[in-house]
Amino acid sequence: MNNLLLRALSCTNDQRPPVWFMRQAGRFLPEYRALRQKHSLWELFHTPELAAEATLQPLKTLGVDAAILFSDILVIAEIFGYELRFENKPELYPPKTEVRKDVRETLSYVNKTIELLKDISVPLIGFCGGPYTVAKYMKAPFLLQQITDASIEYLQMQIDAGIQAVQIFDSWGMENPEVSLPYLKQIVDAIDVPVIVFSRGSCRFVKEFVDLKPDCISFDWEREMHELRKEVPSHIAVQGNIDPEILKGPHFEGHVVRLLESMQGEKGFIINLGHGVLPETPVAHAVRVVELVKQTSAALRR
Ligand code: CP3
Repeated sequence: MNNLLLRALSCTNDQRPPVWFMRQAGRFLPEYRALRQKHSLWELFHTPELAAEATLQPLKTLGVDAAILFSDILVIAEIFGYELRFENKPELYPPKTEVRKDVRETLSYVNKTIELLKDISVPLIGFCGGPYTVAKYMKAPFLLQQITDASIEYLQMQIDAGIQAVQIFDSWGMENPEVSLPYLKQIVDAIDVPVIVFSRGSCRFVKEFVDLKPDCISFDWEREMHELRKEVPSHIAVQGNIDPEILKGPHFEGHVVRLLESMQGEKGFIINLGHGVLPETPVAHAVRVVELVKQTSAALRR
């Protein structure tokens, strides 16, 4: 078992940093696009065998150090009777009357996906959306506490099924930190496996994220990682923070090497992007980042 990710999350990693990419299973991979030719997004999310296949694709193609469950932060809306449709962007259709379904029963297909992935060679990351971000897509801010409760139960189900770490994607939370942070805090406090918190704009709210007491904070690219590291206590890991536009473009290599050099010897550092991989990113660039992490770290230690 490659457990670099789990070691980095506990800030005890004395080897090279682990690397994975947000949205690593997705449209930038030709084999994912092939799967999408045959199946709708709804089918991929709801069919455990297909979701497991999509989860595995980036492991084979990129050689990353972690898998992330293939699903979407919006499936939780099904608990409240919303119908989820994906055209070019996700659309949620509210129910006519108030509905509250059982989390474990309604989302049991996610459970099955996790069970199919129990023998992989890297840690499997489970996830949920931040309640603020999910509520924004549901256009239902009044449901924040209920979304929080359902998310905790959903993560608990994922943990029982075998995931080893959790990331909370609160992409839009920092539009309104006073509203979003207390709900993030409830989730972080309730979960017993390592928790990574992610938000666009996290670089501007370092103290607030530290106060959540997560195991790891995922940063965007607005500030340098080694500067952020100084403001995060050494028992909290940091993740990030390559600009997805830079990864897409021709000059990413120097950028990645500088990031690695500036974080040399860090026991709680995970290489990732500052937000999801852009669909137009050449696969070879992501493959090269993984190679660079492996080579550069070995060279730096010599
Ligand atoms: O990271 C992974 O590889 C795991 C799977 C994953 C998906 N969505 C699959 C997906 C994860 C972790 C998410 C999180 C997610 N979903 C977020 C938070 C992170 C972020 O990017 O801000 C949000 C806001 C969503 C909601 C969502 N789902 C949007 C806005 C879209 C459409 C735009 C887009 O990026 O494609 C989706 C669709 C979606 N979710 C796709 C995938 C692979 C698109 C795939 C396709 O069109 O075939």
